[in-house]
Amino acid sequence: MTLSHSMLAIEISTPGGPDVLTPASVPVPVPGHGQIVIRVAWAGVNRPDALQRAGAYAPPPSASPLPGLECSGTVVELGPGVTRWRIGDQVCALLPGGGYAEYAVTHEAHALPIPKGLSLKEAACLPETCFTVWSNVVMRGGLRGGERFLVHGGTSGIGTTAIQIARALGARVFATAGTEEKCEVCRALGAELAINHRTGDFVAEMKAVGGANLILDMVGGPYIERNLKALADGGRLVQIAFLQGARVTLNLAELMTRRLTLTGSTLRPQSDLAKARIAREVETHVWPMIERGAVRVVMDSDYPLDQAPAAHWRLESGGHVGKIALRVET
Ligand SMILES: NC(=O)c1ccc[n+]([C@@H]2O[C@H](COP(=O)([O-])OP(=O)(O)OC[C@H]3O[C@@H](n4cnc5c(N)ncnc54)[C@H](OP(=O)(O)O)[C@@H]3O)[C@@H](O)[C@H]2O)c1
Repeated sequence: MTLSHSMLAIEISTPGGPDVLTPASVPVPVPGHGQIVIRVAWAGVNRPDALQRAGAYAPPPSASPLPGLECSGTVVELGPGVTRWRIGDQVCALLPGGGYAEYAVTHEAHALPIPKGLSLKEAACLPETCFTVWSNVVMRGGLRGGERFLVHGGTSGIGTTAIQIARALGARVFATAGTEEKCEVCRALGAELAINHRTGDFVAEMKAVGGANLILDMVGGPYIERNLKALADGGRLVQIAFLQGARVTLNLAELMTRRLTLTGSTLRPQSDLAKARIAREVETHVWPMIERGAVRVVMDSDYPLDQAPAAHWRLESGGHVGKIALRVET
């Protein structure tokens, strides 16, 4: 197949608010060794896209400067050395960037088959969240069945996925969210207790059940000290973002006296090999959970590609529950 040389994409014209997302004609990406080009059907929208748009999350040097960390679509070109995929295969994929476009390029090992029973729209919303949740909750955080797991931002894309995966692993799940309605969603997804962080005290609630064995946190700031207090002895705190700041003053004595672990990771700058390893684990462990209905994609809304600013306004309104998607193929 011969691809045209240019395509429609959404560029970040200058760092700023959602309206800096601007349609542009840009070159179609060329696959390098081990890479595939995907004709994008749907692109998932994630909080890191908003951070990149605002100038607070620069793409790695080798990545597309266009926003978009995940997509679904059809493989249309193979780079040298590609063995797993053929032209015409439908996939969903983790991207180093460039999902808000008609075509995107990624390493073949970062693409996965569409789970049975899922639409392309739902599948586009899986990679960034599933890779992040599995690598931080299981590979880094070591969650096991029977443990008490607390996730903040329970109705975020990450939160809705983390609740369901942790339940499917047999953990006892606790979540925080900003409204009663959001707390109800967390409970419906499998949280035995959902705490409204505007009215409740998650430290007291977690202490009352013996403390959390693992906490997945994206809030940071004042939550860091409170999270340490909410952990059971030997508990682990995994940071995946710092929505309320990364600089704090802490007394770390509890790390020693209660044998706590404080760790974290960010997905995008990791090596191709590290992401391929996560992809294998996600396909082996999470895809079966999705296919047997234990984990589903919680969809908030979708927008056509040229309405990417509206999708970001929605994301930043804080009113959304679950994932937002962009329709690329018309
Ligand atoms: N480390 C990684 O590799 C990685 C990868 C992907 C995403 N992330 C991070 O994970 C988080 C969730 O991503 P997402 O795409 O699922 O985001 P999202 O759907 O936009 O959710 C963010 C959630 O955080 C809460 N929130 C927003 N601003 C807040 C603030 N200032 N203080 C406290 N809570 C706030 C909101 O919950 P309430 O309204 O209920 O409070 C919201 O549900 C983001 O921070 C993102 O940057 C990290």
